Amino acid sequence: MTEHSVHAGDRLAASALVERLFNSEEARADPYPLYRALREADPVHVTDNGRVFLTRYDDCAAMLRNPGLVAQSETWMDSASPGWRNHPAVVQNIESILFRDPPVHTRLRRLVNRSFTPRRVARMRDDIAQLVGASLDRFADEGADGSAVNAYEVLASSLPIAVVGTLIGIPRQDWAVLHEPVSAVMQVVEVGVGPDRLDRADEGATALNAYFEDLIAQRRRNPCADIISDLVATADAGGDPADGGTGMTETELLRMVILLFGAGVDTTVGLLANGLVAFLDNPQQAKLLREEPGLAEAAVNEVLRYDSPTHVIVRVADEGAVVAGVPVPKYSTVFAISGAAHRDPEQFRDPDTFDITRRGTSVLSFSGGIHFCVGAPLARLEAEVFFPALLDRFPRLALADRPVRRGYVVRGYDSLPVTVI
Ligand code: HEM
Repeated sequence: MTEHSVHAGDRLAASALVERLFNSEEARADPYPLYRALREADPVHVTDNGRVFLTRYDDCAAMLRNPGLVAQSETWMDSASPGWRNHPAVVQNIESILFRDPPVHTRLRRLVNRSFTPRRVARMRDDIAQLVGASLDRFADEGADGSAVNAYEVLASSLPIAVVGTLIGIPRQDWAVLHEPVSAVMQVVEVGVGPDRLDRADEGATALNAYFEDLIAQRRRNPCADIISDLVATADAGGDPADGGTGMTETELLRMVILLFGAGVDTTVGLLANGLVAFLDNPQQAKLLREEPGLAEAAVNEVLRYDSPTHVIVRVADEGAVVAGVPVPKYSTVFAISGAAHRDPEQFRDPDTFDITRRGTSVLSFSGGIHFCVGAPLARLEAEVFFPALLDRFPRLALADRPVRRGYVVRGYDSLPVTVI
């Protein structure tokens, strides 16, 4: 047997597992047993139509830096999903930096890195502490009489949207109305998005386009000390890329601002909510963090590993690509299932145990390689402030009912009822 040859029975079993992973309530509720079974049956699973699914940590980490793989570009979309241009939500994503390859990606990334600096994020700590306090006040108010609070809803409407809104410069009074459209637009990254959700996503994208075109115009006239103003200035100063300049076109600028906003909301809510549940399910770990708040940084890393808010990263094969030792045809889609990689026993001892004292974990939740998440330091900082504050403020925090999961690519909750007293 070669390293990657697989028994026919295992391959069939793996195909059935992939089906269940991408199309079932079971996977939304708890994908981890399916991941383990898939990794054991066929860790580099290639389907009959050439799609590749990776579940081992090393393979997923290598995939993110594989020079033979590229983003799901416009050209690929034209062949794989003709008609995508009729959907403003899909256009928003595909035309954003997320789906660009070098040299366009390199130019856009340089510009966004110049505005989204580590210093700027570090300076947000006090604002974040204040916004976390305000969010916890809402938990306290809504649960003061002992009734259940939907923690996911409170977090989604109050915290990451406020943090990212403050940083990039969205006026406070607009946060509430932007929450629904931005969440709808990001739904197109999910698998199996039906027509209803796509319609809502498109409506959301149309609303966001109008809102942010207007805000960009305002900042161009009256710059403020925020990221939108910085991006406008660097985009304009670099000159039009069509004439060899290093700035951004107006469309690139719009896509960038909307992505910065959109990419940082549901993902971060997922991180906070998934962590909240991990601590409730593991009271010893909650006790440990209460006693040693200095473990916050390691605790956030462990939440990202144990129940990541992002589970899948997708690339497309270029000519001659080799993935985990297997040659794959041009245009094959390759899925690094980071959620599975995080539970790989070859990489992590007792991978199904939530242990905030774990050391040396390098998570794949924020991707890797050239598309490594721009907002990772912000999301980490927010969670580092949030978990100790939550556990300290509500020592009797408990689940009020069974939570209901939502999402697979971005994993969060529809409903997360908790009591706080
Ligand atoms: C827990 C929270 C977050 C998670 C898990 C997360 C995850 C990710 C992942 C997996 C990617 C890369 C996808 C790929 O390689 O195809 C990514 C890219 C990106 N993220 Fe995040 N993200 C989070 C928060 C944020 C925040 C707060 C922001 C901004 C405020 C942000 C902005 C971006 C941007 C702009 C990119 C595109 C980078 C590029 O293509 O070069 N993210 N994120």
